Amino acid sequence: MCGIVGYLGRKEAFSILIEALKKLEYRGYDSAGVAIWNRGKIEIIRQKGKVDDLKKLASNKDIKGTMGIAHTRWATHGIPSERNAHPHRAGEVVVVHNGIIENYVELKQRLRNEGRRFSSDTDTEVIPHLINSYVEKGHNFVDAVRLAICELKGSYALGIIKEKERVMIAAKKESPLIIGVVDGESIIASDIPAILDITNKVIFLEDNDIAIFNEEGFRIIDTMGNAVERKIHTINWTSAMAQKGGYKHFMLKEIFEQPVAITNTLTGRVKEDKGEIELDNLKLPNLEKIKKIWMVACGTSYHACLIGKYIFESNLRIPVEVDIASEFRYRDPIIGKDNMLILVSQSGETADTIAAMKEGKKRDSFVLSICNVLGSTLARDADGVVFTHAGPEIGVASTKAFTTQITVLFMLMLFMAKKMGIFTTGQLKEKIGELRRIPHKIQEVLNNAKHIEEIARKYMTYKDFLYIGRGINYPSVMEGALKLKEISYIHAEAYAAGEMKHGPIALIDENFPVVVLSPYDITYQKTCSNIEEVLARRGKVLLFTDTSGHEMVERVESVFVMPKTIYELEPIISAIPLQLLAYYIANLLGTDVDQPRNLAKSVTVE
Ligand code: F6R
Repeated sequence: MCGIVGYLGRKEAFSILIEALKKLEYRGYDSAGVAIWNRGKIEIIRQKGKVDDLKKLASNKDIKGTMGIAHTRWATHGIPSERNAHPHRAGEVVVVHNGIIENYVELKQRLRNEGRRFSSDTDTEVIPHLINSYVEKGHNFVDAVRLAICELKGSYALGIIKEKERVMIAAKKESPLIIGVVDGESIIASDIPAILDITNKVIFLEDNDIAIFNEEGFRIIDTMGNAVERKIHTINWTSAMAQKGGYKHFMLKEIFEQPVAITNTLTGRVKEDKGEIELDNLKLPNLEKIKKIWMVACGTSYHACLIGKYIFESNLRIPVEVDIASEFRYRDPIIGKDNMLILVSQSGETADTIAAMKEGKKRDSFVLSICNVLGSTLARDADGVVFTHAGPEIGVASTKAFTTQITVLFMLMLFMAKKMGIFTTGQLKEKIGELRRIPHKIQEVLNNAKHIEEIARKYMTYKDFLYIGRGINYPSVMEGALKLKEISYIHAEAYAAGEMKHGPIALIDENFPVVVLSPYDITYQKTCSNIEEVLARRGKVLLFTDTSGHEMVERVESVFVMPKTIYELEPIISAIPLQLLAYYIANLLGTDVDQPRNLAKSVTVE
């Protein structure tokens, strides 16, 4: 998804902007551009491709200046190309934009009727034209921006500069935008990693904020021109935490970070000696009145919700309905004030999940979000929030966010169970104890990563994979198959193991490996029968079981043995070898693991 950065200070802006853009590469993009202000003139360079290509292009030019804005674009309106890449200019005004302008067609028509000429296919280009039209009517720069954005419908995070004036303006609505707070310099960005080399003091702009930067510093106003105050937050992530830290890819680093990510997520929250969970002063409504819980999310976070359903229903005995965020509101969901809506999102900025939150609020449900990014829209606007302290997740494929989401869902279940008087203190202590052992068990799996790499080498050339599992292992294989397809581009399909004989079994032959996830739990024996069915058709089985699952080990072609845990926590352990299998296959095939084709880290369009 698009990323924007801006700088005003004493140093050369170009290299600062390029470095900051590189830290936003994880968001996924297809083109990049930069505009540098120098003595009242603005020079723009932009092109299709990577930030490094932009740097090469700029090396032939003498780009100097201490103020500028820059952008990575992920195409929504108009193909990836130089003419559609940002920044966009109209007259003296130059703009970078993240988001979508919904009323751009009518604005474009009106501006065209005034004789203005457009040079791209983007929705964004109406913004500089609109601002410029107000400048031409005699408004000062700030008022021109303010009046223009009042006419925009849709979402935007904007960086704006203008010839002749050494002023940079940022504005935000429904797309993330932060200010890095530093003495004598001003920096804006779509996300924290872009500014961490410069500062760890951050302001999260809120919807309808307009920030104005000049030599003296900055001020923030609303769209009516009234001054607004925003809190400065200190971010504890170091810049090194947001880097690869010696691993070949961010994804591999993030897989290996999971013991720490889960430990951080548990820290200060689990009180094993008292059998208690504390969740950041979370205030829940009266649980006796909650008739149904909804869990809504996209992609990997949706799979975490499917696992959450097993965890909640089996323990709390409250019905849980899980929905894909992009589907939720279109089916007029039966949700009201006796329901709780739990939204799960790594970024906290996924447009469909935000839309689901609005739907839940409109219908008076208590809305709780589980997010990884502090200050994100879902974290700010929900009635309650529990953070997954996974740290920055840079690889586009979600890994540590997923396992920390399940961790939070499990803690939340225990927190609610305690309130509802469901478990004895002894039972709570037992469950908390097992949760605390999970990071060590993950480490055991990671210590055997080489074995999974060998398995990956054996199967990397196959073109299709089937993943099967039963019960709580079914959403886990859905996640495993998603990981494989998104980073290796190999077709992978997940099925509930019992469904295989209702159709997919027709596909099984020696060219169709079947990944079977079957820890020794209540579903084990039944899944063994499914393995037999595959073997009878000369299918190849890659079995992921635990230390008690002996029965099929000798009969299948490849086996990986995981440590044992309780049923509800099995998905955290099994996520690790399935993530590693996908990673090693993709790495061996040489794909762009951290930025797979066509994918964006934060999907801020519906
Ligand atoms: C897959 C993946 C995506 C995200 C989805 C939701 O590896 O990362 O499927 O899970 O786009 O994103 P968040 O969790 O940020 O709402």
